[in-house]
Amino acid sequence: MLTGPGVRACRNPAAAPAQEPYGAQRATILNEAGFEAAQREISQWPGYAVAPLHALPGLAAKLGIAALFYKDESERFGLKSFKALGGAYAVYRLLAQAVAPHNGGVPASAADILSGRWRDIVSAITVTCATDGNHGRSVAWGAQLFGCRCVIFIHATVSEGRRAAIARYGAEVVRVAGNYDDSVRHADAQARANGWTVVSDTTYEGYRDIPIDVMHGYGVMSREIVAQLGGEPPTHVLVQAGVGAMAASVAAAFWLAWGEHRPRLVVIEPTEADCHLRSALAGHVVAVSGALDTIMAGLACGEVSPAAWEIVGAAADAFVAVEDRYAIDAVRAFANPLGTDPAIVSGETGATGLAALLAAQDVPGLRELLGMNASSRVLLLGSEGDTDPEIYQRITGKTADEVRA
Ligand SMILES: Cc1ncc(COP(=O)(O)O)c(C=O)c1O
Repeated sequence: MLTGPGVRACRNPAAAPAQEPYGAQRATILNEAGFEAAQREISQWPGYAVAPLHALPGLAAKLGIAALFYKDESERFGLKSFKALGGAYAVYRLLAQAVAPHNGGVPASAADILSGRWRDIVSAITVTCATDGNHGRSVAWGAQLFGCRCVIFIHATVSEGRRAAIARYGAEVVRVAGNYDDSVRHADAQARANGWTVVSDTTYEGYRDIPIDVMHGYGVMSREIVAQLGGEPPTHVLVQAGVGAMAASVAAAFWLAWGEHRPRLVVIEPTEADCHLRSALAGHVVAVSGALDTIMAGLACGEVSPAAWEIVGAAADAFVAVEDRYAIDAVRAFANPLGTDPAIVSGETGATGLAALLAAQDVPGLRELLGMNASSRVLLLGSEGDTDPEIYQRITGKTADEVRA
């Protein structure tokens, strides 16, 4: 393991060789058909638009790499994060399946549900989940869009701004004691007691079909990127991980699209919640407990999603844990562009990839560990915009509108 000021990093001892095919075992979790179905469905929803992929030559030059790309999810369906793609898609899927027995065994289409034809069945269903903000916002939005009831559990340190953003979509929001992982268990217990359906982004013992729908929904982001890059894969993709569902989705979609030419996958976490890095070092899933106190709110998760880990544990080439100060510097760097680069509104969790690149400038050996050099073409996943506008303004001194102006 490499340690430096504010950073821990390691290569993945269990990384699959580039030539290894994606394989049938991994396809039992995430697969081409699942990604395809999600994209077909979600691209027809009201408000769908391809999220921009920005090239940042100014920042690339400063970092000493050949190219830097940033997938900007800050306006996805008006929810400000890529998470809009997952939770809402899983809500749609479960409602469509609930209608099927009344529809000759055929799951209802989104248009059919939106028309109100199945209102009686759909409105009797309650969906629930635990969230650190963005996933709950997606589930609440999906529930409101398709017409079912929604109860969302948030843990002690979820900001008031994030609570209010979920409530805006008509969900009942309940704050519970403890950290994110405690709130996951609480949501599960409440669902059992009340006959609700958990729409979680993380898998656990006996529960994985719905989180797999969530991960297939996220695949829209990666499939858009493959099209936007015109078939030329980057050399590296830096993906931030909370429970690892996003990382698994990105890894699977790129492995399926690019095979042995897929980019090196680098998983980035906060030092306070580095369960992926620790699991890689241990060779098995390891949980991190405690407050998981980090400004990268979407990554404050101490337990990996086991099904996601089955993919990430092999697909990742390296793991990097960074301190909050690098994320803060990264948010500011995106808001204050260099040269002809566009100004980018990226929240603390959205800026994690750049945080790791900034750390690689400070910490001797990190760039080499990542296999990065002057010819690298690096993809960052800008998974969120100013999901908490107050925190964003505190970091940058500007509102999102001022940054974009
Ligand atoms: C904006 C954002 N990016 C990345 C993540 C990480 O996703 P995952 O928990 O699937 O690893 C989250 C999780 O909430 C998030 O909100």
